Amino acid sequence: MNDVPHNAPGQHWQASGYAHHADFVPALGEEVAALLAPKAGERILDLGCGDGRLTEVLAKSGATVIGVDASPDMVEAARARGLDARVVDAHHLPFDHEFDAVFSNAALHWMLNHEAVIASVHRALKPGGRFVAEFGGHGNVAAICTALLAALQARGISGKARFPWFFPTVEEYSTSLKAAGFTIDSIELIPRPTPLPTGMAGWLATFANPFLHGLEEEVREAILDNAVDLLSHSLSDSHGNWTADYVRLRLKAYR
Ligand code: BEZ
Repeated sequence: MNDVPHNAPGQHWQASGYAHHADFVPALGEEVAALLAPKAGERILDLGCGDGRLTEVLAKSGATVIGVDASPDMVEAARARGLDARVVDAHHLPFDHEFDAVFSNAALHWMLNHEAVIASVHRALKPGGRFVAEFGGHGNVAAICTALLAALQARGISGKARFPWFFPTVEEYSTSLKAAGFTIDSIELIPRPTPLPTGMAGWLATFANPFLHGLEEEVREAILDNAVDLLSHSLSDSHGNWTADYVRLRLKAYR
């Protein structure tokens, strides 16, 4: 296992803000939930369950679903839905050979030591169990990343040192899955331009905090304004509607 840090600093997850600015995330996760095809009686782990909206959909199949997330606020919101949700670091899952499936939507790109996560998922699965996941793949939010890096660089700040996400290629992730002992059923990159209901300012307010960690409020605001301005040419239309340049990495693999 290597020494890559697990998560970038500066992440503050609040269920209410997430539900307001990023409500589309669980809604768009229904295709990957269909790929999982949960069945009654199965035991399923939802890795990075957030506020539990998609966990609840999985549980409707009659499967027993346990949600885990690193954010206590998100876990509390999931528990408020009546779900079994626990605060757990996905790099060190406390489960041994006990799940028929591990599922994850829009979470794995926040976990920077992907080899530790994959090893943890492998250990959590029963032999023959499946790992079904979707997260940001290579090229995900590329324009947004470039605008944030440029706005930071213009103020002499290295954005690369703060970069909080892991967006692998199919080749890179496949190699890690196979090295951990998985057999890949399917893995692909899927471009998915995604309308942003609360615009780019709302998206950045929800997700860009790690880039701004430790900076004065005035500097943070100037960087965000600068990024929004740079992005308006490529990601907003003439009516001011914003679309993010999402690219999903979607996979199904067996232990
Ligand atoms: C994503 O779902 O691809 C994503 C969400 C927030 C930040 C970066 C990527």
